[in-house]
Amino acid sequence: MDDEGVISPARVRSHTSGQRFTILVANAKGGCGKTTLATNLASLYARRGSPVSLLDLDPQQSADTWLNLRRQSGLTGIESLRLPLSGELRRADLADKLRRGGPRVIIDSPAGLDARTLEPLLQVSQVVLVPVLPSPLDIRSATRFLQTLMLTRSYQQHPRRLAVVANRTRQRTVMFSQLKRFLQSLKIPYLASLHDTQLLAQAAGEGKGLFELDQGRAHAHLDDWQPIIEWLEVQRQLIRSMSADR
Ligand SMILES: Nc1ncnc2c1ncn2[C@@H]1O[C@H](COP(=O)(O)OP(=O)(O)OP(=O)(O)O)[C@@H](O)[C@H]1O
Ligand SMILES: [Mg+2]
Repeated sequence: MDDEGVISPARVRSHTSGQRFTILVANAKGGCGKTTLATNLASLYARRGSPVSLLDLDPQQSADTWLNLRRQSGLTGIESLRLPLSGELRRADLADKLRRGGPRVIIDSPAGLDARTLEPLLQVSQVVLVPVLPSPLDIRSATRFLQTLMLTRSYQQHPRRLAVVANRTRQRTVMFSQLKRFLQSLKIPYLASLHDTQLLAQAAGEGKGLFELDQGRAHAHLDDWQPIIEWLEVQRQLIRSMSADR
């Protein structure tokens, strides 16, 4: 953690957009785990001392509520950026918010994202994580969402690094087998399966990430998250080395 868990604003703000790594968490389907993924990733970065900002676009402001609870629990290390969506999302507004962010920004997006809103979001993001639940309706809507995303002008011009995460999985269930078959059939990486656990809701209620609960309780889930963190780090390094070559 940076000096006693507090990220210096000067350090956070000194990063230019060229160096910033922006992770968009998105899926048009409600309740699939976007906020859970965004907040837990942010807390994982905060725990290891990597400056991170969380941009909440959802009018419900769930991620921001979590950040408020977090402050009440005395936890720091995540900078809050807010831009509750209402009407058209302008790239200039988004870029302006991101300029206030640190070297890593995680964007939590609301349900119901359409192609028009996705365009500016994809323009500013380096990677996109799509959580999907193991149910036939969720698989259908994920298919539609991924098609919409891949057909946007922004994606066609610069294919974003896109990956899918299975969420709330229960081993040895028919639904999980179906979801795994679907995810493996996609030509995009399927990074991880996050198990269904009440610990996530418990942690969220305290403004914590899963790994900020007592070690014993959360330890069994660490392996679930590791491939996501590793994949993100590889993407970040790739992007940095590509921009250094230019
Ligand atoms: N792996 C999991 N195990 C157990 N509960 C989970 C898991 N992932 C998410 N949940 C729970 O599912 C509910 C919905 O999750 P979350 O709020 O992250 O979804 P969302 O996609 O952000 O929803 P919305 O579209 O409304 O913003 C929450 O109560 C959350 O605690
Ligand atoms: Mg949400």
